[in-house]
Parts: sequence; structure tokens; C-alpha cells
Amino acid sequence: MSLPSRVKIVEVAPRDGLQNEKAFVDTAIKIELVDRLSAAGFPNVEAVSFVSPKWVPQMADASQVMAGIARRPGTIYSALTPNLKGFEAARAAGVHEVVIFSAASEAFAQKNINCSIAESIARFEPVAQAAREAGIRLRGSISCALGCPYQGEVPAAAVVDVAERYLALGCDEIDVADTIGVGTPRQVQAVMGAVAQRIDPSRIAAHFHDTYGQALANILAALQAGIAIVHTSVAGLGGCPYAKGATGNVATEDVLYMLRGLDIETGVDFDAVVETGQWIAGHLGRPGSSRAGNAVVAKRAA
Ligand code: HMG
Ligand code: MG
Repeated sequence: MSLPSRVKIVEVAPRDGLQNEKAFVDTAIKIELVDRLSAAGFPNVEAVSFVSPKWVPQMADASQVMAGIARRPGTIYSALTPNLKGFEAARAAGVHEVVIFSAASEAFAQKNINCSIAESIARFEPVAQAAREAGIRLRGSISCALGCPYQGEVPAAAVVDVAERYLALGCDEIDVADTIGVGTPRQVQAVMGAVAQRIDPSRIAAHFHDTYGQALANILAALQAGIAIVHTSVAGLGGCPYAKGATGNVATEDVLYMLRGLDIETGVDFDAVVETGQWIAGHLGRPGSSRAGNAVVAKRAA
């Protein structure tokens, strides 16, 4: 099957990457991370989340981060907003896109946002309306679309059901998320295919964690299924505090390397991303998990 000639990369490290860090990352570092990423050419940076600081203390400085960044014209800055309180903070901070997030698994929705899937959709209704009125883009994320740490298997029909609810809310984009990185390519094609039957594939994003080392293969499968939006995290940072054992998102450097080899354009500067990966890993005190990033650095040192 044919591949897209261009892919939009949504860089999620400042949010999904850092949210799981145990030690608080200085606000100045978070700001510099967002700025380095926008300067590297990402069209969309998921910068922060406006969630309860009791639930995710690492994101408590979201407003300060948004106030401190140097906004690059053309970059969309996104923020997670689980409810109207989060939305109001996001609007005040001047984000371009808010992300509502539920799950295809009831058990995970309960652990992550403390309510059922249906309750979460009801909670998102005023957020969607407020976003529409404010002219702010709306994106919907579906966690555990390829498997759940509590429930195990997740039927594709459950993913389609949440996707349709998001569409009814007016979402511009819908993320199919493999929160715990358990999916494999055939499953990706089945789930993406099922969602794409109801929603224009140009509005569907692949958000894959790399726990089982399947993320690159899964992205290729998603591209073959007509998907052209991919979420990645520099240095492979990340994990979800409510999905024990899940590792980071697929590393941006690895995805950029693969896409370059496939002659797929992204508009992102690979070398700048490698530098940024080394820089943030240094601040976190451990090597990043990007194979391509580490290979480039090792080659330089040889
Ligand atoms: P709750 O405890 O049921 O909510 O949490 P509540 O309304 O009873 O509020 C409890 C307290 O939180 C109150 O404060 C609220 O004011 C405050 P108190 O009166 O006790 O002092 N509060 C807030 N504060 C700041 N911003 C807000 C906010 N809302 C309430 N927006 C809630 C429900 C949804 C708030 C909570 O469960 C929560 O914040 N969850 C977020 C969990 C999270 O961020 N998880 C990680 C992101 S999702 C993810 O990583 C998956 C993804 O990457 C895709 C994938 O890979 O699957 C997107
Ligand atoms: Mg995630």
C-alpha cells in the first residue's frame, strides 16, 4: 500500500515525556525543551497538561511554562485538559489546541481520570463547546486502544465507539493511543482500519509507546493504513503514571530516521532533535532511549 509523502509529527516530550519523571523538572528546563523543539521545526508541540497537581505534580507549573516559551509562528502548542477547570487555565495560557482524553477501556478511564468513559464524555461536552466558542482546536485521545494494563484485550469496536463520540463533540483530530506499547502491526492495521471507516484518516493520529519494541513497526503499519499524523517523544522520554511499567513514547529521532529513509517529509531538523535529546537526557541524568540518537552521537565520538 502507498505511503504518505508528508507526515505531521506531534512532539509530546514536554508533556507525555516529562509527566512521569519522579523528580520535579525545573520550569526553566521545561521552557527550554519546548523552545528547542519548536525551533527544530515541529508543527505541533504538546507542551503541558492542565490537570490536578495532586494527580500529576510534574505538570503543576503548566501556566508558567506556557508564559515563558518563545512562541514560534506556525507552531501549534497543545495542552491536555480533562475538564472545564483545565480548559479555562489552558485558554488563559494561550494554547492553540486542547486535548480531551479518555480511554477505550473502562478500567483505565477510572484509574486515569477517575470516572467512567460515559462520564468523561459528559465532562468533555462543556470543554468542547468552550473550545469551539474560543476558536481553539480540539483533539481527543483514546488511551488503551491496543490493550489495557487492567483489562487486557480491548476490542476495536470500543475504540471506534470513543472515536465516534469525539467526532460528535467536534474533535479536529483523534489520537489512537497504545498507552502501554503492547500492540503489533496487524492489530494496528485492524484498529486504524476500523476507525478510518468512520473518520477521515487525515484526522487520525498514531500515539504509540514503545514498551515492547513494536512502535516503529506499528507506525509503518499505521502509515500503510493511511495515517499521516504521528506522535513522538524526543529521547523516547515518557510513560503514564497510571500505566505501571509502560515506557516512553516512540523516540522522535528513530521515527525521523525511518521517515527520511522512506522519503517522507516532516519539516523537522533531525540534527537539532538529536542535540535536544542529548541535552534533555543530560538534565534528567540518564541516557535517552533513542537508538538513532545514540548511534549518531556514538559515531561522532568514534
Ligand atoms: P478528581 O479527584 O475526580 O476531580 O480528579 P475533582 O473534580 O474532585 O477535583 C479534585 C481536586 O483537583 C480539586 O482540588 C480540584 O480543584 C482539582 P481540591 O478542591 O481538592 O484542592 N482539579 C484541578 N486542578 C487543576 N487543574 C484541573 C483540575 N481538575 C480538578 N484541570 C481529574 C479528576 C480528571 C481532575 C484527575 O483525575 C486528573 O487530573 N487526572 C489527570 C491524569 C493525567 O494527567 N494522566 C496522564 C495524562 S493521560 C496520558 O498520559 C495518556 C496519553 O498520553 C495517551 C496515551 O498514551 O494513552 C494522553
Ligand atoms: Mg501517552
